[in-house]
Amino acid sequence: MQTASNPHQPIGVYDSGVGGLSVLRAIRTALPHEDLLYLGDQANVPYGERSLEELRELARGVTRFMLAQGAKLIVIACNTASAAALKALRQEYPEVPFVGMEPAVKPAAEQTNSGKVGVLATPSTFQGELYASVVERFASGVEIYQETCPGLVSQIEKGWLETPKTRRILEAALLPLMARGVDTLVMGCTHFPFVIPLIEQITEGKARVIDPAPAVARQTQRVLEERGLLNRQPGAGITRYFTTGDPARFARVLPRLIGVQAQAQALRWQGKDLTPIN
Ligand code: DGL
Repeated sequence: MQTASNPHQPIGVYDSGVGGLSVLRAIRTALPHEDLLYLGDQANVPYGERSLEELRELARGVTRFMLAQGAKLIVIACNTASAAALKALRQEYPEVPFVGMEPAVKPAAEQTNSGKVGVLATPSTFQGELYASVVERFASGVEIYQETCPGLVSQIEKGWLETPKTRRILEAALLPLMARGVDTLVMGCTHFPFVIPLIEQITEGKARVIDPAPAVARQTQRVLEERGLLNRQPGAGITRYFTTGDPARFARVLPRLIGVQAQAQALRWQGKDLTPIN
């Protein structure tokens, strides 16, 4: 197994599908000189209703693949995979820096005026210890309302950011929250920032929306700096995209989500490991 140690190695960014692109976009803005590897495990999306044990196995396979590709740091750009696997991965790979996601309950609790916060995330994220621990640590004195938005991840996977069905799913989640006086909404799933414009329409701009991606990018920068791993190459970094799903579909959705045209390399799960398909 490879030990990450060289600033010129890429950063690995991982999600169940296209959601982690919201984090990748923030990393590219904060760290434009870094080379990036993006992996969407679209053969297994959505992750949100899978068991925590199954998610850990998938995250282990992705980690082995990222390290084999030379990743110096891995961003688990998925709240669900972070909830299931971050702790285990840090124990199993103590030499590898991991940056994970947790629902941004802390800034939400600090910023709410009404004392009512809505958290949008997947069922598996809500079940994990990580979520229980952020609520316990940061949400005292604040009422938290949880919403899973069934079907929303699949809509975003298809790039359907503003269709009537996407709107219906969001209205079903958001209108009851607004009626209760929620004024702050946490994007606890990395897919959801792609529908912030629609969320703002539905809530008539009356709720503050918290997307943790910029904070995750800053954390990535801090960890790289601490370890002397920041890439100081003069030119812009390059990004390589991988999917375990259909690479043509991934490439079609990419411009709609982050305004980038690029090809994706197809990967296949063979047992517990990922291999490239030519
Ligand atoms: N993007 C993911 C997250 O942040 C997972 C969505 C899913 O696959 O269900 O939780």
